[in-house]
Amino acid sequence: MLEGKKIILGICGSIAAYKAAFLVRLLVKEGAMVRVVTTPSAGHFVTDLTFSNLSKNPVFTGLWDGTWTEHVHLGNWGDLLLVAPATANSLSKMAHGQVDNALTAVYLAASCPVMVAPAMDADMFLHPATQANLQTLQSRGVHVLHSPEGEHASGLTGPGRFPEPEEILEQVRQFFGPQPLQGKKVLISAGPTREAIDPVRFLTNHSTGTMGIELAKAARKLGATVTLVIGPVSKELPVLEEIIRVNSAQEMYQAMNDHFQSSDLTIMSAAVADYTPETVSDHKIKKQEGDMVLRLKRTRDILKSLGEQKRPNQILVGFALETQNEEANAKSKLERKNLDFIVLNSLADAGAGFGGNTNKIAILHKNGEINRFPLKSKAETAMDIFQTIIKKGNED
Ligand code: CTP
Repeated sequence: MLEGKKIILGICGSIAAYKAAFLVRLLVKEGAMVRVVTTPSAGHFVTDLTFSNLSKNPVFTGLWDGTWTEHVHLGNWGDLLLVAPATANSLSKMAHGQVDNALTAVYLAASCPVMVAPAMDADMFLHPATQANLQTLQSRGVHVLHSPEGEHASGLTGPGRFPEPEEILEQVRQFFGPQPLQGKKVLISAGPTREAIDPVRFLTNHSTGTMGIELAKAARKLGATVTLVIGPVSKELPVLEEIIRVNSAQEMYQAMNDHFQSSDLTIMSAAVADYTPETVSDHKIKKQEGDMVLRLKRTRDILKSLGEQKRPNQILVGFALETQNEEANAKSKLERKNLDFIVLNSLADAGAGFGGNTNKIAILHKNGEINRFPLKSKAETAMDIFQTIIKKGNED
């Protein structure tokens, strides 16, 4: 599978570094060419001799050894830079563009995609600083591998474990394998809308855009060309083919309609306002004695309008946030709006819905099938949504 692929393997100072030796063997056995780069702290756990023997190549370890442009050559040589194990310290340096060793120099110089397999104790992994660094790296297109829960070398249990070398190999294989959404155009809406009342006030909701952003990242990982139409959010956005920022439901309607015809798969994950003020005051509304009545009119249902124009080869996916009779309500929305799938999240489930990094969903298909998923990160949930759509597409 990996015949002729050039992999730069970055190894940091973690006890999991010994497992990287097995990883080198697996990669070489699959036909990959492996060049190892180690950080100075990796040397406390493993020796360069081990890795030069296994990779059959010299190990790049000191920025000032050999030629000083080695990091640039290596960064341009690789098809993939895989940092495994990636420590909290190296992830932090990578997120901040700090260069003080061979690996961080290669990372900044690398013109190829980057994959990291974090490995650290659960407390370090869960620390907001580490999580923020991982998010920063992800938003720049770095593939962050899942760090499973389990027992650490310290005796503590929790997430942050180094995945088994076989699992990493599988991820590398998938990375180089055929991408299921290659050549497909995916259109995603995300975030809230803002409905102006006057120049200083508006109506909105609690959506942070996280789920839609994760969907966009997942679609890109699967090879799609992605257009993201996103309401006002404060999150850093990933690098995508096209990002259209909108404010109101009407602007979102326009942007989605402009792009719908050319899209193969459209997902409406935005929390669109159902109502907007009947009139928008040109001036700041001054307070009066007594109460005030704000008259609202209906916005257009974007998803329904897309459902009405949908061609047979297009796939349309909606979201439903329900509080009661969840599956029945979602099913009726799917039918009413002529959808292929609807993703249901219930506010009754802890950890699901607005804000936060987790979600618990069920995916209803137009033929009546329902796939229910446990509570997962929004990144994993996004992958589940695409895998379900792809699987169904392969069956049909
Ligand atoms: N949606 C939309 N345009 C709107 C409102 C909602 O495209 N004006 C989309 C959302 O992006 C979501 C789906 O419709 O994908 C379901 O939204 P929701 O507000 O839950 O459903 P409604 O059909 O508005 O039903 P209800 O208010 O009765 O729950």
